Amino acid sequence: MTGQMPWVTGTTRFFATIANPADHVRAPMVFNPIFAKRGLDHVMVPMSVPPESLKVAIDGLRGTSNFGGMAVTIPHKMELAKMCDTLGPTAQLTGAVNAVRFDADGTIHGDNFDGAGFVAGLRRQDHDPAGRTVLMVGAGGAARAIALALCDAGVERLLIRNRTPEKAEAIAEELARLGGYRQVESAPTHDGGDVDMIVNTTSLGLHEGEDLPLVLDAVGANTLIAEIIMVPERTDWLAAAEARGLTTHYGHHMLDHQVELIGTFIGAL
Ligand SMILES: NC(=O)c1ccc[n+]([C@@H]2O[C@H](COP(=O)([O-])OP(=O)(O)OC[C@H]3O[C@@H](n4cnc5c(N)ncnc54)[C@H](OP(=O)(O)O)[C@@H]3O)[C@@H](O)[C@H]2O)c1
Repeated sequence: MTGQMPWVTGTTRFFATIANPADHVRAPMVFNPIFAKRGLDHVMVPMSVPPESLKVAIDGLRGTSNFGGMAVTIPHKMELAKMCDTLGPTAQLTGAVNAVRFDADGTIHGDNFDGAGFVAGLRRQDHDPAGRTVLMVGAGGAARAIALALCDAGVERLLIRNRTPEKAEAIAEELARLGGYRQVESAPTHDGGDVDMIVNTTSLGLHEGEDLPLVLDAVGANTLIAEIIMVPERTDWLAAAEARGLTTHYGHHMLDHQVELIGTFIGAL
């Protein structure tokens, strides 16, 4: 180490990515090189916390003066939202956080940037969703945030196909009630025809040999196929779309475009 600053010192401010398990998280590999590049005395560590230990872990961090905040992923997004002292608008509507800031007075503040990251990623690739008809497959936590962001971005219609249609109906109802958005509806048997974009927000594709989230037979040649799964990078669904000559949008764009948003919110960047 001669002549070099040790990377982690007594003055280092630390941040975390909380998950259970944490072995799949990508945020430390994204944030730590940025800290180094920008000369920030910060470090991000993975935190593997089982649900039954979440409260004690959060309470401990509330009193830790050199802890700044965390990125949040499966399965803690909803439980952590309930523990926050304040929630930003997207977290209020989705009931889920993916970033929590820990302030010096012991209060914690959450928000959710999944949807904003997804839409920013689309725009960066020249796929502006404004005025488009979108079919979203899935109605889980990520889907709720993406649905709100797509409405904010001005989609003409948002159709939601989910295995459990009640969850799609609940998203449509809440977006109408809380956000005033009327263009969202549940479409449990939609075949993917006659839409401008289809986004997979289910977890189908994370593991080898799973069913495709939507069979592509009825999908038109100009429909964009968007994925939010990051690993594997090229899911079977993206591969099937590309084999048919369809334009695809990869899952990593969504996280790539959240880094500055989350980092700024938790005070890391
Ligand atoms: N790129 C990014 O930045 C980013 C960010 C967040 C999440 N993600 C990814 O997004 C995916 C979803 O995350 P989430 O937090 O929204 O999860 P979640 O809340 O658990 O939702 C899972 C969704 O997948 C559906 N599903 C699961 N298994 C299914 C099956 N066998 N057949 C049909 N539908 C099935 C569920 O349907 P039911 O409602 O019927 O159960 C639900 O709609 C994960 O793969 C995650 O890695 C990516």
